[in-house]
Amino acid sequence: RRSEHKAQYHILDEASAYYQRQLKEHPSRDLAVNYLKSRGLTGKVASFFCIGFAPSGWDNLINAVGGTSEKANLLELSGMLIRHEEKDSLYDRFRNRIMFPIRDARGRTIAFGGRVLGDDKPKYLNSPETDTFHKGRELYGLYEARKLTQKLERIVIVEGYMDVISLAQFGVTYAVATLGTATSQQHLERLFKTVSEVVFCFDGDKAGRKAAERALETTLTSIKDGQEARFLFLPEGEDPDTLIRAEGKDGFEKRLNEALPLSEFFFKSHSQGSDMTSIDGRARFSSEALPMLQQMQPGLLKQMMIDKICEITGLTLEQINSTIQLVPTSAS
Ligand code: GTP
Ligand code: MN
Ligand code: MN
Ligand code: MN
Ligand code: MN
Repeated sequence: RRSEHKAQYHILDEASAYYQRQLKEHPSRDLAVNYLKSRGLTGKVASFFCIGFAPSGWDNLINAVGGTSEKANLLELSGMLIRHEEKDSLYDRFRNRIMFPIRDARGRTIAFGGRVLGDDKPKYLNSPETDTFHKGRELYGLYEARKLTQKLERIVIVEGYMDVISLAQFGVTYAVATLGTATSQQHLERLFKTVSEVVFCFDGDKAGRKAAERALETTLTSIKDGQEARFLFLPEGEDPDTLIRAEGKDGFEKRLNEALPLSEFFFKSHSQGSDMTSIDGRARFSSEALPMLQQMQPGLLKQMMIDKICEITGLTLEQINSTIQLVPTSAS
């Protein structure tokens, strides 16, 4: 089992080296290099993130790395090759794509993301879940952030590979991305082991705002005293990549410093749609917010957020408890 894992890590490193080599040597490398240049990436940052190129064709990786049946088998287990059932043959999963290797905390390649060079669909293709790749646990860029930053104090969570890399290129070397999944408790646990502050910074679009609402709920139920979570909302149409190119490191960090604290985002998000100047609106807001606060970990933040509701409604904790019939809290 262990040794099988070890062989899988090894073959993925070989695949990564192969893709990187294609970016330097393949006859159609210009396509890939020009694409990366058009995205404004420097060679330096591209090579730090081990960006590569999967040429078009169905059997490039299998021929270059999967020479023996044992190796082909490992590549299949790692999600790099797909089995064609009728023909009972294997073919490359990633074709004609820019390749982003995903590395674990120890720097081992565990998966890839691949982007088309133009506007084809799907824009991004990710490795499937495997024995060695668990999307709900891994964060793109965490290994690199640790290497780039002497002492990590905060981490920014963004949506995409290009966001992480662009931010790093411009000096915000502490960004990570979830891998096409929502931020999970496991992600947060892992991050809060490294830093005491995380800032969510999703795209300035509908999907990004929805992702922030989900991250709010996940974070609210797991955050502990001593941990801080904030939310940075970008102007419509921008993502971290486009924004740092427009505003530079200082502009971006200024926004980070002013990001909305978890509690403020919570109150803002849940008071939306209620008329907070009327009793009716405040009652509605409180009846929605209190059950959620109830699910928080016991501690000062929870206490202070519940106190805030008392302040907003003018009710005492006892009155609220007896009316809404909350389960007894740490406060009672
Ligand atoms: P660029 O266009 O390269 O700047 O990508 P982006 O990161 O800005 O993409 P977008 O904002 O559209 O999507 C955010 C993230 O969602 C991406 O980085 C991917 O991880 C993921 N994603 C986007 N499109 C797809 C897709 O077609 N398939 C999958 N599996 N994931 C996608
Ligand atoms: Mn495993
Ligand atoms: Mn988006
Ligand atoms: Mn985006
Ligand atoms: Mn983008």
